[in-house]
Formats: sequence, structure tokens, C-alpha cells
Amino acid sequence: MNIIVGVTSGIAIYKAVDLVSKLRKNKFEIDIIMTENATKMISPVVFSAVGNCPVYTDTFNVKNGWIIHTELSKKADLFVLAPATANTIAKISSGVADNLLTTTILALPEKTPKILIPTMNTRMYENKLTQENFEKLKKLGWFIVEPDSGHLACGDVGKGRYPENEKIIEAIYYMLDEKRLSGKKVLVTAGPTREEIDPIRYISNYSSGKMGYEIAKISKRMGAYTTLISGPTNLTPPYFIDEFIKVKTAHDMYTQVMNKFIDYDIIIMTAAVADYTPKVKSKEKIKKSENNFILELERTKDILKELGRKKRSNQIIIGFAAETSNIIEYGKQKLISKNADYIISNDANKVMGSDFSSAFLISKDKVIQLEGSKEKVAKDILTNIINN
Ligand code: CTP
Repeated sequence: MNIIVGVTSGIAIYKAVDLVSKLRKNKFEIDIIMTENATKMISPVVFSAVGNCPVYTDTFNVKNGWIIHTELSKKADLFVLAPATANTIAKISSGVADNLLTTTILALPEKTPKILIPTMNTRMYENKLTQENFEKLKKLGWFIVEPDSGHLACGDVGKGRYPENEKIIEAIYYMLDEKRLSGKKVLVTAGPTREEIDPIRYISNYSSGKMGYEIAKISKRMGAYTTLISGPTNLTPPYFIDEFIKVKTAHDMYTQVMNKFIDYDIIIMTAAVADYTPKVKSKEKIKKSENNFILELERTKDILKELGRKKRSNQIIIGFAAETSNIIEYGKQKLISKNADYIISNDANKVMGSDFSSAFLISKDKVIQLEGSKEKVAKDILTNIINN
């Protein structure tokens, strides 16, 4: 895949060097176009070395009839402008083509995905002219990654900061992915739950939430309206998903899922919901004594089972199972007992907390083995469901 990175002279230009490095690590083939002002801030040599790629600056540097702006614009699978100054944004929204960068942009085919990373002073960002330019570009299909808020190079505090490069990379994957779940709504649960014993103690499990977060990310990439309901995790919520709801207990998760599920086409319960919760939750810290301590637990509501009972005929319900033995057999039993459409039965010893997954996708008539990074397995799960 070829990506053209357009670079203009925002102060955040040094962060674009890291973007290029990350694109290279993601195995993209890169071409870079810098404006003349951008080259006054960082030498093209830096970008070229980091990206292991050509850097173009001069429209008239034509070799063997290879006209740079037409050739580059033809070969690009995606174009990203990072950082994008207010000036270049104004030019491209008006169709101005007065340097190699803006000329190449004007020559990009309509279907080429285009991403804009605006970074500038807050007043310039909020200026109605700049906002109008954004609206115009959005209508033309540009994907604009909103700048972050915070301290700006000029000393002001406000909106206009360059976002995390991980977010830009996700925007790239989002724009490149086929939208096979377009028009669908996907609800994902993830992470552990915490069942309170007293104000400072709780019962939980080792679930990291990674599998659910990867599924939500891939679901969004595939074009679904995506909601993630998550127990406590250390993970950053997937970029660009439509709703992110934080919960703590099995009861909270039950309430949120029941409030929402009716509108969704696909519901994927990756959360490791506690099966038991303390019968009494002490309002005060429980003090130790010399005796043993017995904690009485009561069953929580089985959300998946209730979804299995209440689901509409065209809803797809997917449960997870974390097993330490008889992985396929226990998975098949859960498929029936919970009336789910699929159970993804995991080898708990291998997958809990890991970035890798080793699992079986079990439906009434098939068992498919899934293995690889959780990102790959997330894609395999959704693709198998769509194809079925
Ligand atoms: N689940 C749920 N509500 C609960 C408990 C679990 O919805 N109160 C869901 C999980 O999100 C997961 C699936 O049910 O999709 C796991 O099934 P479960 O029978 O709870 O598995 P285990 O907890 O491993 O149960 P067992 O001890 O029977 O193996």
C-alpha cells in the first residue's frame, strides 16, 4: 500500500517524523511531499531517512518526463496531510494549486482516501473561515482528525494540538478498510468486572479487555456503528468508535447491555463478567479478627443467557468462554445452554492478558480454529460472521 504524506510548516512538524517512522514499521510504502516552508523547519533528509522513502519538494524537478504531481497522485492508495496548516487547508479547499503539494492534492482521484491533521493556534482553528474550509473538505470526503486540546506552542491553551500518531494510523486503517459492516450496529462488552466487598476491596479476574477492544476497533474499521461497554481496564478506548461506556460491576454491565441491546444487529460478549458477587457489600472497611473470614457470594445475572432468551430473530449473539480444558466441548455446551449463535472458546491458560489469541469459533454446524494476534482474531471473527 502506498501512502503520500503531505507535510506543511506547523510547529508540530517534528511529530510527523514519528508518524512516518510508524508508517514504515506498519509496512506502508511512503512518498513524502513537503512545502518549502516545511523544509525550513526540518530537513527533507530526516524524513527521507526515517521513512526510507523519497521526499519531493520541487514541482519542476522533472526526470525523464516523470511529472511528479500527476504520477504521485495516480499511484497513492491514501493521502494524509500532517501537520496541515490553516493556509494549506484554505488553499486546498479553494482548489489552489501553487506548489507541488497543493498541485498533487488537486490531482488526486476522487476515490483516493484523504486524511487531514489540522494543527494550529486555537483562534485560527476556530476562525469561521477555517471552519468553513473544514466543512467544505468534509463534504468532499476528507476525513478530518480533530486536533487535541491543551498547551499550544504559542503559549495559549486550547484546541489545535497534533493528536497521537496512533490515532492517525488508526484513521488510515479506518479509511483503507472495506466497509463490510456498513449500516450495522455492533455492541461489544469487554474487560473484567469488579465486585465490591467493602470500600477498599473487590473480587475480579485477570481479563485485560484486549480482545473486546480489538473487536470494537475492527468493527468500527468495517463501518459498523460501534458501542463498547467496558469494565475497568488499563486500555485506551479504541479511536473513532461511536459510544464508550465504562462500568464497574456485573450488575452495571447487565443494566447497560439490557438498555442498549435491542437496537443492535450483532452483540459480542467478550467481558469476563463475575459469576458471583458478595451478598453483603460492607459500607465500612471490614476489620480483621483472629478468626477465619467467610464471605458469602450470590450469583449475578447471566447477561449472555438473558440475551439468548430475548434476542430478535435477526440478531446475532456471540459469547466467549475461557476454559482450561475440554475447550471445544465446553464451548459447544455453552452455545446450547445460552442459546447463542456463536461461542468463541478460548484456551484461558494461553490468552488471558496476552496480545495473542488461540480459540475456536463454534456455531451449530461448524468449529473454526482461530489463532494469531488479537487484532487478527478480531478480524477473523467478524469476517466469519459476515460470510456465514
Ligand atoms: N457472561 C455473562 N454474564 C455473566 C457471566 C458471564 O453474560 N454473569 C458471559 C460472558 O461475557 C461470556 C460468557 O458469558 O460471553 C461466558 O460464559 P460463562 O458460562 O459465564 O463462562 P464461565 O464464567 O467460564 O462459566 P463456567 O464456570 O460455567 O465455565
